[in-house]
Amino acid sequence: MTSNTIGATAKSAADSVAAVLDGRELVVASNREPYSHGYTDGEIVVDRPAGGLTAALDPVMQAVEGTWVAWGDGDADREVVNDEGTVGVPPEDPAYDLRRVWLSDEQVSGYYRGYSNQVLWPLCHLDTAKVNADPTFWAQYRQTNADFADAILDAAEDDSVVWFQDYHLALAPRRVRDARPDATLAHFWHIPWPTWDAFQACPQYEQLLDGLLANDLVGFHTEAYCRNFLDCVEAATHARVDRASASVSYKGQRTFVRSFPLGIDAAQRAELATSEAADDYWQRFREGYDIDADTRLALGVERLDYTKGIERRLDALERFWEQYPEWRGELTYVQKGTESRSEIPAYSELQNRVADAIERVNDRFGTDDWTPVVSLTDHVPDAGLAALYREADLALVTPVRDGMNLVAKEYVASQTGESGVLVLSELAGSHEQLGDESVLVHPYDEAGVADGIADALELSRDERARRMAALQRSVHAEDVYDWLESQFQTVAAVERGRQSSRAMLER
Ligand code: G6P
Repeated sequence: MTSNTIGATAKSAADSVAAVLDGRELVVASNREPYSHGYTDGEIVVDRPAGGLTAALDPVMQAVEGTWVAWGDGDADREVVNDEGTVGVPPEDPAYDLRRVWLSDEQVSGYYRGYSNQVLWPLCHLDTAKVNADPTFWAQYRQTNADFADAILDAAEDDSVVWFQDYHLALAPRRVRDARPDATLAHFWHIPWPTWDAFQACPQYEQLLDGLLANDLVGFHTEAYCRNFLDCVEAATHARVDRASASVSYKGQRTFVRSFPLGIDAAQRAELATSEAADDYWQRFREGYDIDADTRLALGVERLDYTKGIERRLDALERFWEQYPEWRGELTYVQKGTESRSEIPAYSELQNRVADAIERVNDRFGTDDWTPVVSLTDHVPDAGLAALYREADLALVTPVRDGMNLVAKEYVASQTGESGVLVLSELAGSHEQLGDESVLVHPYDEAGVADGIADALELSRDERARRMAALQRSVHAEDVYDWLESQFQTVAAVERGRQSSRAMLER
């Protein structure tokens, strides 16, 4: 998307961010970059890594002409940058700077695959048994956070707003704060924040909190994560925690803790679902997998991650076809599983187990005319995914732990035809917004999930339409642009508060 084609909601978010910045520089920092450069047939090509957040932030960054600091992991990334490691993006009409941070193999292994994905990821998803506290991970995480902070400091001025994304960068805010005491620092944590009992299992809990408390604002998806965070701060540090204002005073600085449930670009999803490309994909999909018009469809979409509850879901489906034999041949489950973080054993092992489970269910119930579980492991284009979301009678979103889960929202926004039903785990952050009108299930209750699937299939057309309309209202109202705007409004409020307390002290 270029600045010329920016949508109305993106435009309003960009205007409101620009008003808060009032001419100051915005620096966004995230592990993944919004554009990467690679080689195809010897030529340099630009890839725009898919992902709702980058897609939504990009037009805002274009409008405010800020700087985005991220790991340059593309094969040709070094070829296109200037001496500072910066390239103007979007490539066809540069509007803002992408400042790339270069990581050595040891850093990728220790900071990204190690500390981020084998310590913080399982810890925050309450899977402490999977935490691998290899000491080299921590050393690389610290070094890489320092490298990110230094890149940010090259771009940030004294009065800049720096916005950190996620668990990869917990330590960087402290180093930026030390060098830019007057800058405004905000951080959004995209995964759950665990309870103190779980967080304490991390040997570096104090340093992580020290890093995050260098921010003026720390955001989470839900109120429950905010409460967990304040509990951890209270238990692990000497900070003063004020529950009434949900803020922390620590090392002479006040950090506000707020929930901002991440949304999606719902309008764009709905548009894609009604596109010709979606129709074409659906036509080809049905023919290719021999799915006739009467067959009901259930859909699961996710990265192949142990937090997503895929194995348990397959067990529940097996039980469902066992207990409700009338649905054999009548309901097909489509599993879109994207390979992810495969160099980490817990992930490669999961991929094998999921493949085995699919084979087991298909061997048990499949017939010459019907494959119970269709597994899609190849890339599905956006319009194809939109078609699957649109046509699915059920979405099975049953993670065992999930910060928010945007698939649930993408399904809802793409339901432009006859209404289907969202079957949602009560352990997904999105259940706070979508739980009332979903069929809510507990992912560890195999029988309950099987019954939930059967109940969802029996809902009347009117009831499905009523529920889906309510879900759509919520997903459209609280979209990704609303998320962006409300965070920057809060940044503005925090800055006003800081100014008035300074004025009081000076009096
Ligand atoms: C999920 C999480 C995000 C995280 C991302 C990283 O989408 O919800 O919080 O930033 O994974 O994925 P990656 O492929 O970069 O490890």
